[in-house]
Amino acid sequence: MPAPPPTGSSAIDVTGLSKSYGDKVVLDGIDLRIPEGTIFALLGPNGAGKTTTVQILSTLIPADAGQARLAGHDLVREAEAVRAAIGVTGQFAAVDNLLTAEENLFLMADLLHLPRREGRRRAAELLRRFELTDAAKKPAATFSGGMRRKLDLAMTLVGTPRIIFLDEPTTGLDPRSRRTMWEIIRGLVADGVTLFLTTQYLEEADQLADRIAVLDQGKLVAEGTAEELKRLIPGSHIRLRFTDAHALESAAAFFGSTAYDAEALTLQIPGDGGIPGLRAVLDGLERASIEAEALTVHTPDLDDVFLTLTGQPKRPGESPNSLEDNAQMDKTRKDNTR
Ligand SMILES: Nc1ncnc2c1ncn2[C@@H]1O[C@H](COP(=O)(O)OP(=O)(O)OP(=O)(O)O)[C@@H](O)[C@H]1O
Ligand SMILES: [Mg+2]
Repeated sequence: MPAPPPTGSSAIDVTGLSKSYGDKVVLDGIDLRIPEGTIFALLGPNGAGKTTTVQILSTLIPADAGQARLAGHDLVREAEAVRAAIGVTGQFAAVDNLLTAEENLFLMADLLHLPRREGRRRAAELLRRFELTDAAKKPAATFSGGMRRKLDLAMTLVGTPRIIFLDEPTTGLDPRSRRTMWEIIRGLVADGVTLFLTTQYLEEADQLADRIAVLDQGKLVAEGTAEELKRLIPGSHIRLRFTDAHALESAAAFFGSTAYDAEALTLQIPGDGGIPGLRAVLDGLERASIEAEALTVHTPDLDDVFLTLTGQPKRPGESPNSLEDNAQMDKTRKDNTR
């Protein structure tokens, strides 16, 4: 089900965010609005500027231009208040290898000036929640990648932030650990926390994010729900299968589609993958009294979207939505009968 459009109060509001290193433009005027209690995923190829965005919004580095408000506070003028409202789990684990899991969490509690008893309580609770209790007294150096990622996120949660940045939270995790991390992330949002995550895993964005933005060459080239993004690129179609050639031919004539396979008795009807198109096809079959044996809706997946939207050299004056040519080029690579 598509997420509702962002109408509630926003946790993160960004306009015109820009950043260059030397003459390399990394962010070229980024606008974002992320409602409270939602998961936002920033996608983009290596070097697109995802970590840079996270670093700017978490007050670690300054932007060259643009404004941002987080939890109602101005990023620059109220940086202290912003810092108090956010938690950041960086791309590279902040865990201290020489300390045990427990000691890492205590350290975090000390840095946050939590009273000692409160710090101990939070640490014990987080160790339990992340299933790290057995490893509590072991040095982090002996942890697997997945345990380290979990401890890293647990450290971010010591301070009960309202907005959490997760820079590639599941990179290098096995499928089971990834799922555990997803469950943890979903649990956080259920508590009303807002999550800003970056990822290379399109399935991750598809599974978790209410809204997704794709960053490429300094600009957001697309923004929307996973379903909206998939509909942005061509390739959606409805496929009907019939029991005999007569029904197939009647349907092909009725829908004016030449994309049929006489052997498999299937007919493809292009569409946007949305419900109105599906309804029109069903109504058409009914009206023409044609029996179809099976109907499947095919939409491009986020991989198609990613490959289509990113890494293409931009032609001068090209608008971000004139994607047809690139999409067609990429589609030849894919099996469009999926
Ligand atoms: N401190 C820095 N000095 C100079 N260039 C930098 C610096 N930090 C980042 N860059 C450049 O900015 C660009 C964006 O980097 P960034 O780390 O934000 O990308 P990313 O989207 O997080 O990539 P990845 O998926 O590999 O993590 C890259 O070209 C990088 O080389
Ligand atoms: Mg990065």
